[in-house]
Amino acid sequence: MKHLLSAADLSLAEALAILDTAEAMAETQSRQMKKLPTLRGRSVVNLFFEDSTRTRISFEAAAKRLSADVINFSAKGSSVSKGESLKDTAQTLNAMGIDAVVIRHHASGAPHRLAETDWIDVPVINAGDGTHQHPTQALLDAFTMRRFLCGAQDGSPAANGTTLAGKKVAIVGDILHSRVVRSNVNLLHTLGAEVTVVGPPTLIPVGAETWTSRLSYDFDEVIDDGPDAVMMLRVQRERMSSAGGGYFPSPQEYTRAYGLDAARLARLAEHAIVMHPGPMNRGLEISAAAADSPRSTVLHQVANGVFVRMAVLYLLLASDEGLDA
Ligand code: NCD
Repeated sequence: MKHLLSAADLSLAEALAILDTAEAMAETQSRQMKKLPTLRGRSVVNLFFEDSTRTRISFEAAAKRLSADVINFSAKGSSVSKGESLKDTAQTLNAMGIDAVVIRHHASGAPHRLAETDWIDVPVINAGDGTHQHPTQALLDAFTMRRFLCGAQDGSPAANGTTLAGKKVAIVGDILHSRVVRSNVNLLHTLGAEVTVVGPPTLIPVGAETWTSRLSYDFDEVIDDGPDAVMMLRVQRERMSSAGGGYFPSPQEYTRAYGLDAARLARLAEHAIVMHPGPMNRGLEISAAAADSPRSTVLHQVANGVFVRMAVLYLLLASDEGLDA
């Protein structure tokens, strides 16, 4: 595979190859000298049409740790605000001689378009498109789950080939607007986990009943089922037409039914972890008690994101097989 567009494209062998390579990358990052020469002389463009803090910085850090040159492009302040199309932007970058594109775009399918057309002829990595996919987020989440739920269970490296067979994962909240949940449902299924998506009916998309996950509207029932990981999703107010947008009666009611408060936190199994892709709405979908608790892996997810993105860049740009395992 030449591109990373969707978590659904990854076979079990390919997913494990990325996760195992990420463990090898992590090992190099505990050294004092963190920079590897692997991508010296190559240029990676971060093409961000939508706001981002951690994903953009994480891709930048990953490329730089591999010695690539990084060009950061954000739509704000560029000719995109003058109406330049994705095609012209891509062709302009292509003419400058780049080796990979990391793209985040508000339109679902934009990365596929780049990969399919001849506008640009380099590997394309999807860093989040609309409400569609965010494959490197799912990979870093799976990497984190392998470390905390399998083997030593303390966040230390997982053995090569570790899957998530039989692990129960609950993904909770604004399912409708989340590309993180769609990528996670795909990848976690491939890795053998049992996923339940939970949210209010108004924030569950049509068709979710056909996903490879179980569907519930009752967070308390799902907690009683004893999940190994609870992944809270951000309520994406910027994708709702007006604040709240009629998707739920009030923030207080949302929190009461779907928030991870101290009481729900206390009912989780001792080994269970609390995840969130960030940015968090503290006090809405996640309480400070949960976000800051020892079982929260939020900052581990951020750290692991760099290792996973190093692995993806390495496999796409420097290994002969690409992502094929
Ligand atoms: C997510 C995204 O942008 O899809 N954040 C991220 O990449 N860390 C989730 C979100 O914005 O809620």
